[in-house]
Amino acid sequence: MKHKILVSGHLTDDILSLLAQECDVRANGEDRPMERADLLEAVAGVDGVLSMITDAVDAELMDRSPRLRVVSNMAVGYNNIDVAAATARGIVVTNTPGILTEATAELAFALVLASARRVADLDRRTRAGEWTCWAPLLFLSREVSGKTLGVIGLGRIGKAVARRAKAFGMEVLYHNRARLDAGEERDLDVEYAEFDELLQCADFVSLHVPLSGETRHLIGRRELGIMKPTSYLINTSRGPVVDEAALVEALRDRRIEGAGLDVYEHEPLLTPGLTALDNVVLMPHVGSATVETRMKMVRMAADNLLAGLRGERPVHVVNPEVLTRRRG
Ligand code: DGY
Repeated sequence: MKHKILVSGHLTDDILSLLAQECDVRANGEDRPMERADLLEAVAGVDGVLSMITDAVDAELMDRSPRLRVVSNMAVGYNNIDVAAATARGIVVTNTPGILTEATAELAFALVLASARRVADLDRRTRAGEWTCWAPLLFLSREVSGKTLGVIGLGRIGKAVARRAKAFGMEVLYHNRARLDAGEERDLDVEYAEFDELLQCADFVSLHVPLSGETRHLIGRRELGIMKPTSYLINTSRGPVVDEAALVEALRDRRIEGAGLDVYEHEPLLTPGLTALDNVVLMPHVGSATVETRMKMVRMAADNLLAGLRGERPVHVVNPEVLTRRRG
């Protein structure tokens, strides 16, 4: 008998056909997340779920299907999944790391450039007819080349951003839970800094940490208060890492110069006041949204799901202890 699976996001036909060779597939055919009630109803009796970051995969959902064995998240981040609850129920959780590194780093660096050079703001002003003449002190922005980038969370994506910064002749400071070894620091040409020191020295602070209890509101009023008044905050990680109300205040009062955001505290809602500011560039959570990367993510999520259902070890398992337990 075929495995029953739920695909909660709109995927390409070729991937749905691939899944259908081994599974009885129920899929969301629309470009918007499933409503919670529909998700809970659709998950009943399935063996596997190919989930999106917009789905709260919690104990309530898992308990809708005692047969559930695999949750394959189409994302590197898995803060939408209660991994402890999955592990307790023997459910394998998988994700899609590695393949979205370059796309996300590209967008982070695009936000560095766009916020400093006022790309979105000046595009809007040009369209609005505000450009009536050339003048030496008109439409000034800030240079990126030669400045200091502070990377908080120097994992795969943080390192890819640091490499791009080097091409712009930037100094790169980083802060991590674990310091890199001296050889890697030398190869990447990056320097370790304590958290506050990084905030005080960087011209651009770029966030690349996963969302956890420890990183929620990592950047709030205090942290924004010690950043340079000429600095920019870039966030392509997870929205709740930043206290968005405190950021709106800091941007409005020009306590920092600007920000570039791809993620938000209450997606897709934006904190009141954010859209009225001209010193913030806003993107709709599209760090990995290139054709190339999304196709790879879809394929990897499908492969992880199929491997898990076949009883094989998926390539990217978040809670490998479930597999060890099954084998033992
Ligand atoms: C991820 O993979 O975690 C991204 O945020 C989704 O594109």
